Amino acid sequence: MANEAVFTMDASSIKYGPGATREVGSDLRALGATRVMLVTDPGVAQLEPVAVALESLRAAGIDAVVYDQARVEPTDGSFKDAIRFATDGGFDGFVAVGGGSSMDTAKAANLYATYPADFLAYVNAPIGRGEPVPGRLRPLIAIPTTSGTSRDLPSMVAACSGFDVLSHAIESYTALPYREREAPAEPRLRPAYQGANPISDIWAERTILMVSEFFVRAVKDPGDHEARAQMMLAATFAGIGFGNAGVHLPHGMSYPVSGMVQEYVPPGYHPDHALVPHGMSVILNAPSVFRWTASANPERHLQAATWLGGEVRGAGPQDAGHVLSSTLIELMRKTDMPNGLRAIGFDEGDVDELVTGTLPQHRVTKLAPRPVTPEDLRGLFLGALSYWE
Ligand SMILES: [Fe+2]
Repeated sequence: MANEAVFTMDASSIKYGPGATREVGSDLRALGATRVMLVTDPGVAQLEPVAVALESLRAAGIDAVVYDQARVEPTDGSFKDAIRFATDGGFDGFVAVGGGSSMDTAKAANLYATYPADFLAYVNAPIGRGEPVPGRLRPLIAIPTTSGTSRDLPSMVAACSGFDVLSHAIESYTALPYREREAPAEPRLRPAYQGANPISDIWAERTILMVSEFFVRAVKDPGDHEARAQMMLAATFAGIGFGNAGVHLPHGMSYPVSGMVQEYVPPGYHPDHALVPHGMSVILNAPSVFRWTASANPERHLQAATWLGGEVRGAGPQDAGHVLSSTLIELMRKTDMPNGLRAIGFDEGDVDELVTGTLPQHRVTKLAPRPVTPEDLRGLFLGALSYWE
């Protein structure tokens, strides 16, 4: 059998392809790391990617310590625990293996262990103080597993991570344009999320086209390696786009949904607490949001629906919101998503609290293509309660 590693593509800071995980040891060695904290969650800790990463690190002579307590959907408490571990451990490098939760936990651990500060220092205002990161961080390599490398990935996990990817792309494409957002007082205060821009647009377009082609296949057939590999690449492409542009209301509204859930547990997940996976809480809000934001930029909403393969023939600007939201709802039905927030345990009586939980998320709410009031948010949550009969 040919050496799989030769098929790996190594473009700037992204490494992709079979065999990439096996190179993490030499990559971190090249970045100067000698003692590394490997962050993962208790489930992924048992899987092959962690074993492969550890073997690679140790083969490169790196002292690697596993931290397998990243919480699926992290909390302040779980972040602080990881930060303590990182601070006490004296690490000079980090590896995350798993989903967004493990990657975010590793980033927080790196940040607070490298530049110690109280927990709210670097959290975006108005929740935290929004202080800029003081300087370079220690090297961190993230090895995402949710979109494709875990071959026994349950369909619901593939569906939720795929919808997150899709929403990253559509939100960054429809976000407030960078020239319309508030200018920073000085360059170092420019936020990471800058609004829709010509560079992020390219990544969003490509992502939506790839999702259109491969998403349903990846959800329906765990053995479809091509579809899962393409969704993995789409996740990376969307990340480059929204990492610069930002996301807006579907994400902003998702945080209180994930935070307030009482009992819901999705099929295929085995958490020890109620859980709305991030991608699910995002996509349950999305059709309601895009129906409302379309008037700010109908062309972009129609364009996103077109790339997604929606029925756009004869549609004019006034139909843009309906067309994009219907296209998303159809995808939700095809992939067995719950029918809106009601299906995961929310009702009209929760809307005020959901609105209150969304309002402080300025990092993303301020990127909505239309200014949003608490009353608007009420309407958006009510609209997200259910989508079909
Ligand atoms: Fe997301």
